[in-house]
Amino acid sequence: MITVEKLKKVYDDTTVLKSIDFTVKKGEVVCLVGPSGSGKTTLLRCLNLLEVPEEGTVTIGKKTVDFGGKKLSKKDTNELRAYSGMVFQGFHLFPHKTVIENIIEAPLVVQGRDKKELVAEGEELLQKVGMLEHKDKYPDALSGGQQQRAAIARALMMKPEVMLFDEPTSALDPQTVGEVLRVIEDLAKEGQTMVIVTHEMNFARRVSNQVLFMDGGYIVEKGEPEDVLVSPKEKRTREFLQLIKE
Ligand SMILES: Nc1ncnc2c1ncn2[C@@H]1O[C@H](COP(=O)(O)OP(=O)(O)OP(=O)(O)O)[C@@H](O)[C@H]1O
Ligand SMILES: [Mg+2]
Repeated sequence: MITVEKLKKVYDDTTVLKSIDFTVKKGEVVCLVGPSGSGKTTLLRCLNLLEVPEEGTVTIGKKTVDFGGKKLSKKDTNELRAYSGMVFQGFHLFPHKTVIENIIEAPLVVQGRDKKELVAEGEELLQKVGMLEHKDKYPDALSGGQQQRAAIARALMMKPEVMLFDEPTSALDPQTVGEVLRVIEDLAKEGQTMVIVTHEMNFARRVSNQVLFMDGGYIVEKGEPEDVLVSPKEKRTREFLQLIKE
């Protein structure tokens, strides 16, 4: 479903992603872990083309983009982007729109689809994330966990092949973290392909098929969650896991 080869991203004169290679199979859940500044967010943003890499290739679904060659066209950008939906640390809902209006906005505006149909689909997704009763509220009347569940439903509206999550619970109060993690676990059970940046190691062990440990712009170690998170081979992985335990 996703293949990344020799991906490189440079900001000014710092190479933030040095040479990234990995694959994600259809239905797989991949957790991306590693210290602050290691390049996790940058990697996720490169998959969604919120950042444009300098070198390497990204394939998602049937679309491959090679960044080494000519300038990226609008068509390539839109085609690759259509395969993924992104959920951020902050919730990025439109403050002047209700939950249901937030959720139907993109397909209504971008795809020009029928509003009634979208409302019905949106309500179904809100039901799934436990937010149907809040559909007519504005974001500022919701808790962080509720806003994040609405943001997940909004990303799902575009029926992405892959969901990308960047620390979806790190801006939440501890008591609402669980409700968001449960929604993500339900998606995993349904076979939704996902790449999740997270510091929740227990969650990563439960939900993922593969863990990528990043440090200094490289994927230092990858493999099954028990291998990488419980008995890692690399010294840098062990040091990181020790640090976050303390
Ligand atoms: N827009 C930018 N311009 C310049 N440098 C950037 C930019 N965005 C990120 N960086 C740098 O790239 C490196 C990787 O940042 P990134 O945000 O990808 O790390 P991260 O692993 O997500 O960290 P965290 O766990 O703190 O979220 C950092 O050194 C950061 O300072
Ligand atoms: Mg980050």
